[in-house]
Amino acid sequence: EDEAFLEAFQKRIDAEEKIEPNDPMPGGYRKTLVRQIGQHAHSEIVGMLPEGNWITRAPTLRRKAALLAKVQDEGGHGLYLYAAAETLGVSREQMTEELLSGKAKYSSIFNYPTPSWADIGTIGWLVDGAAIMNQIPLCRCSYGPYARAMIRVCKEESFHQRQGYEIVMTLAKGSPEQKQMAQDSLDRWWWPALMMFGPSDKDSAHSEQSMAWKIKRFTNDELRQQFIDATVPQAEFLGLKVPDPDCRWNKETGHYDHGEIDWDEFWRVVKGGGRMNRDRIADRKKAWDDGAWVREAALAHAEKRRDRMEA
Ligand code: ACO
Repeated sequence: EDEAFLEAFQKRIDAEEKIEPNDPMPGGYRKTLVRQIGQHAHSEIVGMLPEGNWITRAPTLRRKAALLAKVQDEGGHGLYLYAAAETLGVSREQMTEELLSGKAKYSSIFNYPTPSWADIGTIGWLVDGAAIMNQIPLCRCSYGPYARAMIRVCKEESFHQRQGYEIVMTLAKGSPEQKQMAQDSLDRWWWPALMMFGPSDKDSAHSEQSMAWKIKRFTNDELRQQFIDATVPQAEFLGLKVPDPDCRWNKETGHYDHGEIDWDEFWRVVKGGGRMNRDRIADRKKAWDDGAWVREAALAHAEKRRDRMEA
């Protein structure tokens, strides 16, 4: 790729032009997007599992209907995102194979277990809350298909976040046992939710280039701080405490200070060593294998139709 091409591309980016599938683009730009959109799609698909776990045990019909809708939305987001990645020349089969072989990453957050009903509330509140914080700026991503997909996804995520917060609010206002369930769940999910934003800026391999290409609009640490600033007052409103003794309002900076994140835990989970990594991939593999007959039947049907058209 010659200098002049890269310069002309950067000019388009700087002028806030959207890049579309058939436009010339640097190989690195394409590769970064395939990686990020693919990882994002996998996260939505794997993200159905921890909550799917509670659909049959939701405490009321209303809760069950909302949870079912939410998990279905996540499946839809995954398909949307796979379609966005396909515009860059990668196939869904290829991406799925990379997920199942462990080559492609998905969000660390989905490798934690959901032992209590309160976790369904906390996931909506914190995990979807963090996802929105990260995804709103992606609506302005320089790559058109990704940016447009994010608009609808963010609307649905905001419903997910509110349904979660409402579950936690109900528990927090309930019996002492229910309040304890909510607190216990917050204790388990707080730090993993902060890790969702990715490594701190000094260790983030891709941030600088992704910011220059306007794929990312904020750094990992900036978004993490925004999330903390928005969420700590919500915990206070619920009468719950975030499990960080160093978390306090800092008048000078106008932000909440926070304690050190356990990056060893983050990398261990990212590399496959979390509590649920093995189960998650095994579940996805089973779903993919069980669906083989559907793919085969669809293919056979398409071939038959083509033959009939040609005859
Ligand atoms: N879980 C797993 N892997 C992660 C995470 C995480 N929470 N955060 C960062 N990583 C990986 C990156 O993929 C990268 O690995 P790679 O080089 O092998 O691809 C490595 O850690 C270094 O991180 P960064 O250089 O900071 O990577 P990047 O610039 O891509 O930033 C981020 C990471 C913020 C997650 C970005 O990819 C992004 O915004 N993605 C879209 C949103 C998304 O995927 N959300 C999924 C969870 S939300 C949901 O599904 C409901």
